[in-house]
Amino acid sequence: MRIYDIIDDKRRSKELTREQIGFWIKGVVDGSVADYQSSALLMAIAINGMTEQETCFLTQAMADSGDKADLSAYGDRTVDKHSSGGVGDTTSLIVIPVMAALGKVCAKMSGRGLGHTGGTLDKLESVDGVTTSMSESAFFGQLDTIGLAIAGQTMKMCPADKILYALRDVTATVESIPLIAASIMSKKLASGARNIVLDVKCGKGAFMHDLKSAEKLARLMVDTGLKAGRKVSALITAMDEPLSDYIGNSLEVQGAVEVLKGRTDCPLYEVSKALCVALLDCEGAGEKVDEAIRSGAALAKFSKMLAAQGADEDVLDRPLVRSKCKIEIFAAKSGYVQSVDAMKIAETVLALGGGRNRKEDEILPHVGVKTDVRRGDFVNEDDQIATMYFDKYEHVALAKEVQDAFAIADKKPTKKSFVLETVK
Ligand code: URA
Repeated sequence: MRIYDIIDDKRRSKELTREQIGFWIKGVVDGSVADYQSSALLMAIAINGMTEQETCFLTQAMADSGDKADLSAYGDRTVDKHSSGGVGDTTSLIVIPVMAALGKVCAKMSGRGLGHTGGTLDKLESVDGVTTSMSESAFFGQLDTIGLAIAGQTMKMCPADKILYALRDVTATVESIPLIAASIMSKKLASGARNIVLDVKCGKGAFMHDLKSAEKLARLMVDTGLKAGRKVSALITAMDEPLSDYIGNSLEVQGAVEVLKGRTDCPLYEVSKALCVALLDCEGAGEKVDEAIRSGAALAKFSKMLAAQGADEDVLDRPLVRSKCKIEIFAAKSGYVQSVDAMKIAETVLALGGGRNRKEDEILPHVGVKTDVRRGDFVNEDDQIATMYFDKYEHVALAKEVQDAFAIADKKPTKKSFVLETVK
C-alpha cells in the first residue's frame, strides 16, 4: 500500500477502506507519512467529504493510535460529556458534580482555552491551589474515592489527533464535518466512558453557524459512538449569546457555583440540566438532577474535587474573582435588549488577557465580564448592564466594546430556549 494512492483515491472521491485509513493513521504516528502528504489528504477529505463508514474507520483508527483509559472496573456507571466550544460555557463544572452526586463515575479529561472559547482546565486552575496535572494513579485514586476528576490528559491518548489537528489548523481544513467528528469522537472513545453526551453549539459564537451543519455534525458523532458500542446522545444548543452571565475563568467558576447552590433563572442551568437528563435517560431524570442540587450533594462533590486537586476545603467560602480593577457598564439607550454578542464579549475577554492566542500564552485568571441583562430584558438609559473585571489599567477602554455587545431597540424580542434539538 502507498500513501500516494490513498491521496489519489480521495482526490477522485473514492471511498477509502478501513485498511487504507489505518495505514494512513499508523504512518502519521510513526512518521512514515510526511506532513505534506497528510495535508494533501486532509484537503481532499475537506473538499470531497467522507462517508459515515469512512468517518467510523477514521475515528476508530485515531482512538487506537495511543493509550486508552480502562474504566471497565466501574461498569456502566461511567459518564463523559463534550462541548464543541462556546462562550460562558461552564456546563462541565455543573454536569460532572451533579452526575457524581447521582452515583456516576466521571473521568473527565479536558482541554485549555484557545482562541475565543474558554477551557475547563484554565477555569479550574483559577481557583487557588487547584491543579489539573495529575498522575494516572492520582486520577484513578480520585475516581475510586469521590467519583469525579477533571484533569488534562493523563495518558498519551490519540497522538494522531494531536498531529492532524495541528496540520488542520494551518491548512484551512479544520471546518470539515467528518474531520471534526473523528477528532472529537476518537478522544471520547479513548477516554473510556460508556455514556456520553455531546453539546453541539450552534450560532455566531460557535464552530457551526447554522442548524443544518450542527445537525449533520451531531448525527455523525452520535452514529459513530453508537457503532463503537457506546451510549451517545447530542444536544444542539444556541451559542449566539453567552451561556452564562459570567465570562472569564474565575468568573465562570463563580457562575457554576451559583447554579450548584440552586440558581435556576439562567441558561447555564437550563443547558446543564438538559445534558444531565440526556446522560441519565430515565424516568424522573429532571427531578433527580434538581434534587442533587437542592440537597447540596452536587456542590459537596465539586468542593471535594477541588480539595482533592489541591484547594483548601473552604475555598468556595472565599471570593473567587479577584481582579485588580473593575468598571461598571451602562446602557447607551432605553429599550429591549435584542442580543448580547457572544463573540464580541469573548474577544474582549481575550483582549483583557483572559484567553490565549497561542498555546504557550499565560492567562490572567481573574479578568472577564459579568453581564446583568439578557435578550428580551428592558433597560433604561444608564441602567447598569455589565461589569468588566481587568488587571491592566490601559484595558479600561475595552469597556466600550462590552457596551457595544448589547444591541438595544424598541421592539421586544421573543425569548428563545437554548436547547434547540436532541439527537439520539
Ligand atoms: N474540537 C476538537 O476536539 N476537534 C475538532 O476538530 C474541533 C473541535
